[in-house]
Amino acid sequence: MQAEFDPHSRLRPGMPQTRHVDWDVIVDFGRKRLRCSVTLTFDRTTGGEVVLDTRRLDILGLALPDGEPLSYTLGDTDPVLGEPLTFVLPAGEDRVRVAYETTEGSTALQWLEPEQTSAGTHDFLFSQCQTIHARSMIPLHDSMSAKVSFRARITVPDGYTALMSAKSTSGDGTVGGDGTRTFEFDAPQPRPPYLIVLVVGNVAARRIGPRSLLWAEPDGLAAAAEEFSEVETLLAAAEDLYGPYPWGDLDLIVMPPSYPYGGLENPGLTFLSPTIVLGDRSEVGVLSHEIAHHWSGDLVTGHSMNHFWVNEGFTTYAERRITEATAGVDVADLHTALAIDDLRDDFAYLAGTPELTRLRKDLTGQDPDTTSSWVAHEKGGLFLRALEEAVGRERFDPFFKRFFADFAFRSLTTEEFLTYVDGIFPEAIDYKEWLYGDWLPEGTPEVTSRFLAETAAVGQDLPGAEQAHWTAEHWKAYVRRLTAPKGVDFLEALDQAHGLTRHTNLEIRVAWLALGVRSAYRPAVEATVELLGGVGRMKYLKQLYDALAENPSTLPLALRTYRANRGFYHPIARTVVESRFEHLGIAPQEYLGEAGSTGV
Ligand code: BES
Ligand code: ZN
Repeated sequence: MQAEFDPHSRLRPGMPQTRHVDWDVIVDFGRKRLRCSVTLTFDRTTGGEVVLDTRRLDILGLALPDGEPLSYTLGDTDPVLGEPLTFVLPAGEDRVRVAYETTEGSTALQWLEPEQTSAGTHDFLFSQCQTIHARSMIPLHDSMSAKVSFRARITVPDGYTALMSAKSTSGDGTVGGDGTRTFEFDAPQPRPPYLIVLVVGNVAARRIGPRSLLWAEPDGLAAAAEEFSEVETLLAAAEDLYGPYPWGDLDLIVMPPSYPYGGLENPGLTFLSPTIVLGDRSEVGVLSHEIAHHWSGDLVTGHSMNHFWVNEGFTTYAERRITEATAGVDVADLHTALAIDDLRDDFAYLAGTPELTRLRKDLTGQDPDTTSSWVAHEKGGLFLRALEEAVGRERFDPFFKRFFADFAFRSLTTEEFLTYVDGIFPEAIDYKEWLYGDWLPEGTPEVTSRFLAETAAVGQDLPGAEQAHWTAEHWKAYVRRLTAPKGVDFLEALDQAHGLTRHTNLEIRVAWLALGVRSAYRPAVEATVELLGGVGRMKYLKQLYDALAENPSTLPLALRTYRANRGFYHPIARTVVESRFEHLGIAPQEYLGEAGSTGV
């Protein structure tokens, strides 16, 4: 097979490739830097030129295992890829040590001040390496196709806990003589580098399942433990679909409010946004999604971001199957139907770049974060649903399980998948149209749900006494299908009766606020500005900044709000929100406010 290379990495076929990472870190909250030494092990001893991925690291020196310094060059910055770190590995050697520090340009890291945490007493640090930010934390081959195992020793100020997506091998840590504590970790199975994560803060744990601890800031622990108490049930439903869970334990952590995603699938330490801790378990689908990723994404991985649908499409399909098994088919199908609405919104955004609506992409030269949409998730999920419908569940389910067994701990391309599936279900559906075509193919499954039928009966009217029993699922369905703009009288009546501007469920509240902003409903505009100062989840930032920025009368407020909160958002969220502004023709000096900001 012709070796394909990842356009977002400096790794090239034949080059010694990183296979194991041995990481020593001192967490310096004062300087907001990680002081690091990493020993990388490569997959061969043939020697030769190695080019690693890095981004904004202060490289202090390279050495061979015997301590002999190794010369290197750090190349020019590529805005998407970062700086290449080049050296020659002598024949016979398979290890090199790099001493370095992270900098304020490390796009993976967010250093929170105590007041940005819920207790307000301790600093907090977390990393977010997906998609291509591991290189801003560790110099390595930052490719989904270059899986690594790792070990780490993390030294923090005493009173802090360090957590990683790995087995802890040091319990509560070892106290050092200098007011520090060192935590040790071991992650022996190979995984894509974006799954190496570090969290340091004042966090506590509670057991919520036979293989699950829940971590959170102490004041948030009880509510989150209640919200996610179904973890073992969800895990069992996932195992029915995929086979035995491959990563040992599954701990969860509730992240600070600025966390840019709903969740992230780190094996051993899955991240969850605090926006899904609601008191009614109505967003537990996010946890099902992250659990599903432990197979699709973590165990079997797309070869590069060109094949990201392998991660997200399988996961979205499985998420809905887990929801179906645990909450019923109407909830699962509602989630799919509303997600198709999101996908269609993305299609409108991508109108000028239809190639980004393909499952198999070519993202050479493009930023995989700003070009990311619901295509990989939802078109990918629908593709698998169409395949399931074509061959029947009795045949589809064994195929699904076998696929994950056959490709375990590997990365694969769309083309490898095509060959595989075509060998099992030849021509069950038009695979090429699904994988290589723009938009959605004909024959896309129709998806509806009891909740949509029940709320459609109310349509664009006000719900009355007969709707008093509505659940969060009904409200999601109803609010999402209200079309903007609406009259202020209608919005006021609805808001007074049902408190949507303050609704605890952010799926409902954000859909409502976007509608309100587009309808110039003042309370919604005010609540939107407030929400944007307290939540950093990108899904919501995109919807709300888009709504504010689209309308000339609220654009100045969008820009002012963004400038006021930019420091609160994770670096990835900043880049993504800024790319949305640019899509609307807004220049950097407007959203950054360096010039011409007066009078806004
Ligand atoms: N792995 C993704 C997060 C991600 C997506 C990181 C794209 C980088 C690029 C995660 O599993 C995810 O999909 N999160 C969703 C929620 C999920 C329930 C669809 C999110 O953050 O909204
Ligand atoms: Zn996902």
